[in-house]
Amino acid sequence: MEKSILINKNVVIGITGGIACYKSIDLIRELRDKGANVHVIMTEHSTHLVGIKDFEKASGNEVQTTLFHPKIDYKDYIKKNKPIKHISLADIADLFLICPATANIIGKIANGIADDLLSTSIIATIAPVLVCPAMNVKMWKNPIVQGNVKKLKNHNYHFAEPEYGELACGYKGVGRLANLKKIIDRIQLLIKQRNDLKRKRILVTSGATFEEIDPVRIITNKSSGKMGTSIAEQAYLRGADVLLLRGYSSVEPNYDINEEKFTTVNDLFDKIKKNIKDMDIMIHCAAVSDFEVNEKKGEKIKSSSELHLELSPTTKIFEHLKKLNKKIFLVGFKAEYKFSKDKLINSAFNLLKSADADLVVANDVGRKNAGFEVDTNEVFVVDRKKKVEHIKLADKRIVGDRLLDIIICKVL
Ligand SMILES: Cc1cc2nc3c(=O)[nH]c(=O)nc-3n(C[C@H](O)[C@H](O)[C@H](O)COP(=O)(O)O)c2cc1C
Repeated sequence: MEKSILINKNVVIGITGGIACYKSIDLIRELRDKGANVHVIMTEHSTHLVGIKDFEKASGNEVQTTLFHPKIDYKDYIKKNKPIKHISLADIADLFLICPATANIIGKIANGIADDLLSTSIIATIAPVLVCPAMNVKMWKNPIVQGNVKKLKNHNYHFAEPEYGELACGYKGVGRLANLKKIIDRIQLLIKQRNDLKRKRILVTSGATFEEIDPVRIITNKSSGKMGTSIAEQAYLRGADVLLLRGYSSVEPNYDINEEKFTTVNDLFDKIKKNIKDMDIMIHCAAVSDFEVNEKKGEKIKSSSELHLELSPTTKIFEHLKKLNKKIFLVGFKAEYKFSKDKLINSAFNLLKSADADLVVANDVGRKNAGFEVDTNEVFVVDRKKKVEHIKLADKRIVGDRLLDIIICKVL
């Protein structure tokens, strides 16, 4: 029999005040049968619908219900400067499940509200979160609820969509808790994905280079660093050992990601050379200047007269990378402006061949909501056989995650 992926995994399950909350007892039993350690957090409202003792019996662990434990003297902890563990379940979770999820908890997380133990723990966790909504059809169809769901999906929260059927409130429609088997399958898949880059060393470059003209002026580009940073974050969340080489960016990486900053093209290349030999995968997403000034001025150039700059092409870093580490799985980005799909793919494939790369991600920075500065992107991923995978317009975190799915299929 195949070994369960859930053995010794910590699944934290949040129970909210929906009629379907009794169904989570069967879910918990099944998760434990598959080897998971299950920890339950109940909201105050849910305790009116199912007894705390039922969940303690099913999970084998004490159920947590309050942010401030009645037996802890917090004032004493603060006075003695002792660490206070109030979000420990958020830290130990391999997966966080909200089942059933009320319209209320969905609205709270979507708006960053942390006013009880469950919502605070969800906001504090970096584990994948699987939300299993269950509610009356009119509540589910409410545009505000749907807007909150969309917002959470864009932030890479996962959903086990509710199903159509008879609802406990007497209505018929979409709103029934997803089938438990479907929920268990999603949990197993998410746990698998969370570890699928474990022990893989990944080098990601991101952001824009600066080439000095004089001590105050530079040549740069519109890269915000959001795409590369999102890839580094998603790789980190999937267990990879990530090094992010980051140039100018409008965003800072979340999580505890190792990073080194670079400024010029040559600085970036030096840092790549220093690190590439130890890496399994490299994703070169930095927007590298194509030109540098022939003669950098040591003092600020006067602005009173016309200025002619002589520029030379910079090193094509991407074309050197495979020579520096023959075994590396090399992924590059090709940005074009207002190209047809075919032209875009051809341009990416030509870059792939010239660099002996494994994948090139083509994005048209002239398309609406794609490319530089914005939070979303739409890309075509081209492989060595010129097979193309389209990642549709989505938040850059989701695009990064899908790109990692494609890379993993080729690497593992
Ligand atoms: C008997 C009963 C059943 C309820 N069932 C649901 C439900 O299935 N889904 C839902 O979103 N809200 C349901 N509610 C409303 C929630 O309990 C309410 O919005 C509450 O504020 C949720 O709090 P919580 O998310 O902190 O548990 C129900 C309320 C009652 C009284």
